[in-house]
Amino acid sequence: MAPATDHDLAALCAEIEACTLCELHATRTRAVPGEGDPSSDLMFVGEAPGYHEDQQGRPFVGQAGKLLEQLLAAIGLTRDQVFIANVLKSRPPNNRDPRPEEIAACQPYLWRQIGLIRPKVVCTLGNHATRLLTGNPAGITRVHGRPQATAISGHGFFLYPIFHPAAALYTPAMLTTLKEDFLRLPELLAHAQPQAGATAPRTDDAPSAAPGPTAGDSPAVARVAAPEAPPAKPEQLGLF
Ligand code: URA
Repeated sequence: MAPATDHDLAALCAEIEACTLCELHATRTRAVPGEGDPSSDLMFVGEAPGYHEDQQGRPFVGQAGKLLEQLLAAIGLTRDQVFIANVLKSRPPNNRDPRPEEIAACQPYLWRQIGLIRPKVVCTLGNHATRLLTGNPAGITRVHGRPQATAISGHGFFLYPIFHPAAALYTPAMLTTLKEDFLRLPELLAHAQPQAGATAPRTDDAPSAAPGPTAGDSPAVARVAAPEAPPAKPEQLGLF
């Protein structure tokens, strides 16, 4: 598969900026497609733009973004060296929780971003991103810090759920755990990339040979552990 080009991602960003698939387009100031290195091994997926992100059209530029940048610095990275995206590309009014129909409308964009960037690790920040990418309702408190071999858009990667920086900002215990989980990222990045195995069980009937999804496609997530099973422990994947 040819690597993603800036042009591929720029075209997708333009599509997202013009999106009217859900009602959030009527209340947003700017869409927030995501930004960073299109060939990075590491991708972050947050929940949705907040006030500052909506104003600037850029992800994680508020307080949570500052913490994310500090955490990145602790492992020797800057935000320009990773790709940062969100489940929703438009701000929900008053920062309310994303609604299922909004997540469903936006999900194909995230799947296409993963298919273009082809990261080795996708780090989900908080409950919404983690539940969407695992296809499992288990909350972040239960699954944080446990890498799961996963495939989306025919691309295999480690899904690595961690607490959302915004939640950790005001909860010291959560911040400690977030830092601990974050510091394990370099080891995960050094590990061999999991392949999108043909033998991995799928969560739906979508054909595995299907190209990257477009708006309207159902989620196509494959993982090594069955979705109903508890997430694989790092030890089971030979990690940590
Ligand atoms: N919180 C998120 O989940 N995403 C952002 O872009 C900013 C804050």
